[in-house]
Amino acid sequence: MYKEKIDKNNIPQHIAIIMDGNGRWAKAQGKHRGEGHIAGAQALHDVMVAASKLGVKYVTVYAFSTENWRRPDEEVNGLMSLLFKKLDIDIFMDNDIRFCVIGDTARLPEDVQERMHYCINRSAGNQTGTLTVALSYSSKWEITEAVKKIASRVKEGSLRIEEITDSTVDEALNTAFLPDPDLLIRTGGELRLSNYLLWQCAYSELYFCDTFWPDFNEEELCKAIYAYQQRERRFGKTSEQVSNTPENCHQ
Ligand code: FPP
Repeated sequence: MYKEKIDKNNIPQHIAIIMDGNGRWAKAQGKHRGEGHIAGAQALHDVMVAASKLGVKYVTVYAFSTENWRRPDEEVNGLMSLLFKKLDIDIFMDNDIRFCVIGDTARLPEDVQERMHYCINRSAGNQTGTLTVALSYSSKWEITEAVKKIASRVKEGSLRIEEITDSTVDEALNTAFLPDPDLLIRTGGELRLSNYLLWQCAYSELYFCDTFWPDFNEEELCKAIYAYQQRERRFGKTSEQVSNTPENCHQ
């Protein structure tokens, strides 16, 4: 059991997840793709609660990409109504989890936007964990928007070009309120980042597994955390530098 093997003093602060494989999970069971998404939503609930109990402060999941708008209408509408149903404030209040969203949310149906804002506002004071859901999100969209914001500050004279640093970009992104992910998990066997948190994952540890998202659970999460704990995070330094710096022991 990986749950017993993991070091409770070296839990990643922020885990980002690409929840992939709902469709293939459904197909393998002779079910409709929509049933894969329903099972995926249940897995998200269970993983969010498990992560929070393990001490993971931030979980950020890719639920709907900018590119997903191109899927058949039936699937898009099904995902939107699933989202509407699953945005249940009691889940966030019962687990003391703050709910946040990143992405081009103005494109979402109005009822989803309303419920989403209600959950964001009601759960804003919750402190045990933060679940951020990426909806109508893509990294290239987010970075383009950040560039526009920075350019307009330069144009209006409130920012000089020489003052622009990587922190300026951090602060202009949707994720300004989040630390960078320590660990990025992708389920479903594909080995790519699919336009997800490209800037923020510059130094994240990457973990890919074949498990389809609906089958991902607490034990699978612990397995990913265990793999993360076997890595040496060097942030560009040498192995010797990292092991000689006490504060880096757990990075
Ligand atoms: C990718 O699997 C998954 C999605 C596009 C949707 C993910 C959504 C959920 C898990 C439900 C989220 C619910 C809430 C409440 C946020 P895929 O369909 O691309 O799988 P495939 O690659 O096997 O076809």
